[in-house]
Amino acid sequence: MQIKELLQQQPAEQEVIVKAWVRTKRVSSSVAFIALNDGSTIHNIQAVVEENTVSEDVLKLVTTGSCVAVTGKLIASQGQGQAVEVKVKSIEVYGTADPEKYPLQPKKHSLEFLREIAHLRPRTNTFSAILRVRHALAFAIHKYFNDNGFFYLHTPIITGSDAEGAGEMFRVTTLPAINPPLNEEGKVDYKEDFFGKETNLTVSGQLEGELGAMALSKIYTFGPTFRAENSNTTRHLAEFWMIEPEVAFYELIDNMNLAEDFIKYLVKYALENCGDDIAFLEKRLLDEEKTKKKEEQSEMSLTEKLKFVVENTFERLTYTEAIEILLNSKAHKQNKFNYPVQWGIDLQSEHERYLVEKHFKKPVILTNYPKEIKAFYMKQDEDGKTVRAMDVLFPGIGEIIGGSQREDNLEKLIQRTKEVGIPEESIWWYLETRKFGSAPHAGFGLGFERLVLFVTGMSNIRDVIPFPRTPKSAEF
Ligand code: 4AD
Ligand code: MG
Repeated sequence: MQIKELLQQQPAEQEVIVKAWVRTKRVSSSVAFIALNDGSTIHNIQAVVEENTVSEDVLKLVTTGSCVAVTGKLIASQGQGQAVEVKVKSIEVYGTADPEKYPLQPKKHSLEFLREIAHLRPRTNTFSAILRVRHALAFAIHKYFNDNGFFYLHTPIITGSDAEGAGEMFRVTTLPAINPPLNEEGKVDYKEDFFGKETNLTVSGQLEGELGAMALSKIYTFGPTFRAENSNTTRHLAEFWMIEPEVAFYELIDNMNLAEDFIKYLVKYALENCGDDIAFLEKRLLDEEKTKKKEEQSEMSLTEKLKFVVENTFERLTYTEAIEILLNSKAHKQNKFNYPVQWGIDLQSEHERYLVEKHFKKPVILTNYPKEIKAFYMKQDEDGKTVRAMDVLFPGIGEIIGGSQREDNLEKLIQRTKEVGIPEESIWWYLETRKFGSAPHAGFGLGFERLVLFVTGMSNIRDVIPFPRTPKSAEF
């Protein structure tokens, strides 16, 4: 039985076996108290070893980090903090952990240090809590879509297209790095490559997702995506997971409604199903806050922040309106922004944070961005300047969702691909959706790790994915 379940049981005569890792061992006069955790819950179960029940030689091997099977009876706990504990009859040590060498000794470890031992950090309270919340959110994502008539579409990881047109792809090739075959122009001849053309890891499943939506009406993807953007920030990974719903017959407004409902559902799901882990992370955060200056401390606790999102309507406004607000801000007038504000700029994180954290103090959905700063596939507005884009901005995170209504007019789409220099023959299959039975449709991408960041209250994206990949860092 896992510890999570065991902690709910009543004391009983029958013996139980707990297989787990030792968090701590405390010896007081003749009794040893062992805190055991198997990752099923943030809570440990206490095993109590009375004198002469387990040999000294075995007990010596029971140290922090070792793995054991403890057999004994579940009894009402004498101590505070737990209802039951195990009165130990015998211990089998599966694997020892030399206290001189095992790095996770019971003391506070910095997140930076834990990043260096990413292979062991899931054994800490903080990381096991994060991983359980991450799992619960992944499950809730599938549940939400399944309950709402969406089909899970598996889009390819290896593709020949650059959905975002930003050129941030990781090339996939079997050609030799030294002396690759060259064509007549002296360039690498990808006809000789595995797929007979240039291929890369996907930056987004959207284009293929649109193909699915043009047949199944409502689809979503949920998979890893890869971006070779050299931005070493606390919000960017080279490999991250993205959720991309795509819906036929949806316009921008429907897309906004879906995004808001979806995020609220996920946050609510976490509040209802990950209470213990969120309470632990909240306490961790409170301790961290205490080390900050008073004016930098957060006014809301983690749970309050999560509830706030669930209970309040997101602010909706256009890019143009947002620029007006920024131009009228004190920060702009006093030249406090690093990037000057003017219509047409790609909003920087400082601008997004101003809008969300200072001005509206709630999540914001920004729409109708200038077409020059958005991807080629977005539907053009009648003004000829903007497109039906939408970004959802979150406090402490910035952009959490990017999406749009798609251009469904073949001529306009072709014109846009020409303008941005995408060769028609490279996306002929995408253009065919507009040639045969084109329909209005819309969708968005939610960055999974940014959602997990928000729900766990963590501040670095490297700490919410088990095996982070960032520039110059891809251990294992
Ligand atoms: O805004 P993005 O680039 O949009 C797309 O990829 C569209 N194809 C989505 C769609 O309409 N189907 O990325 C979507 C989201 C961002 O809002 C952000 O949350 C996340 O993906 N994201 C990243 N997360 C972590 N690391 C990175 N390098 C990220 N780049 C984007
Ligand atoms: Mg974006």
